[in-house]
Amino acid sequence: METCVLDGEKITGREELHDRLAASLGFPDWYGRNLDALYDCLTDLDKEVEIRLVHEAAFREKLGEYATAFLGVMRDAAGENSRIQWKGDIKMPEQDWAQQAFGKITKKMLAVVRRSKGKVPYTTVDGIFDDWSGKGISWWTNGFWGGMLWQLYHATGEPLYRETAEVLEEKLDRVFMDNGGMDHDSGFRWLPTAVADYRLTGSPQSKNRGLRAASDLAGRFNPVGKFIRAWNDDGDAGRAGWAIIDCMMNLPLLYWAYEETKDPRFLHIATMHADTAEKYFIRPDGSANHIVVFDPFTGEYKESLGGQGYGQGSSWTRGQAWALYGFTLSYIHTGNPKYLETAARVADYFISHIPEAGLIPIDFCQPPEPAWEDSTAAAIASCGLLELAARVPGQQADAYAAAADRLLKALYEKRCNWDENCDYILEKCSAAYHDERHEFSIIYGDYYFIEAVWKRVGKEIFIW
Ligand code: GLY
Repeated sequence: METCVLDGEKITGREELHDRLAASLGFPDWYGRNLDALYDCLTDLDKEVEIRLVHEAAFREKLGEYATAFLGVMRDAAGENSRIQWKGDIKMPEQDWAQQAFGKITKKMLAVVRRSKGKVPYTTVDGIFDDWSGKGISWWTNGFWGGMLWQLYHATGEPLYRETAEVLEEKLDRVFMDNGGMDHDSGFRWLPTAVADYRLTGSPQSKNRGLRAASDLAGRFNPVGKFIRAWNDDGDAGRAGWAIIDCMMNLPLLYWAYEETKDPRFLHIATMHADTAEKYFIRPDGSANHIVVFDPFTGEYKESLGGQGYGQGSSWTRGQAWALYGFTLSYIHTGNPKYLETAARVADYFISHIPEAGLIPIDFCQPPEPAWEDSTAAAIASCGLLELAARVPGQQADAYAAAADRLLKALYEKRCNWDENCDYILEKCSAAYHDERHEFSIIYGDYYFIEAVWKRVGKEIFIW
């Protein structure tokens, strides 16, 4: 779904309001730039779009009674045309930091992309991207650099981002021929690369890649347990009954494939997996398990495992963030309110455990020392909270937007590296609690930080 953000602090008058709407919603040349014409164009709009107004007080101050009439037209048009989601009353916290972050990211990344063409980065060595183009080409994170490039291309129009993203996308073709490399993370690899490319350019090869990846992901569905199996094993079915919470973020590849092909298999598999995850991963307090093991022959639940978190029954923060954002996305794609309710429960749990400093540990249940952090969890949770804020009413929306703001501001003020000679942005990312290495740069931390900042300044291309 596209998003159109109207910022009351930036709109100077009626003409600019209509110009912005016309440009962002693609109104025809004959658009009359008055409220009657606006109503007509909105009720005729044939694409899904979310229109948000932020800084409503400033908007009302500048446009006076015209603002009231405009808000009435927006409400009426959204009531008439179900493709429009009108979010007129969200009180977004002040956006200055986000605008500044946007400026710093675009300045830094132009320097980074100029020295990174052809790389498939995961982390950095002495501040410079490493390269997983060789034997590591099947690694699950290899789509995120592509996602950063497409977000940057979408926001700035700089062709180098697009060219670099195209090189990466082609490199990932080798993964299709590596059966042991294909796994449940097809969404993470091909949504931010091929599907983003297809959405922006209409490239038929990119659409083909996205659909191949979706078919492979659908093929991992276990029909008796109703889950998409995680990872692979040595051919001994050792992990054939494993499912993980992260996989909620791969479901949008299936929702996209359904939208493209109209074949409901993709939709059924995605929603059956989401239903299983809701039942077996989400605990009564709104926290989430990382791994759940089922009997792959009968589908019977066996146990939960701590996975990348501190231990069995603990709350691995990135897993909580995958659940928060993942259930929100299942709601966005299906409209099923039970996914929204689940996302809100996970969000409430997450928010109630944010430490004083606003910086997120690897696991909400880890011992106080060592106080290892995972900035990726904060960035991913912020993306989920911002999407959730746009879909729940009044005070609940304000609370989610404020929590996202708190997390992002803490990252912006304390965990960002703006040195243009250094390739990463976010510091203190951690892959897993029991790994030997903690608190380093990881590509998906930077991806989700950029996505969250883009959401806050209205520049995002919707990837998931
Ligand atoms: N999807 C694996 C992870 O979050 O580390």
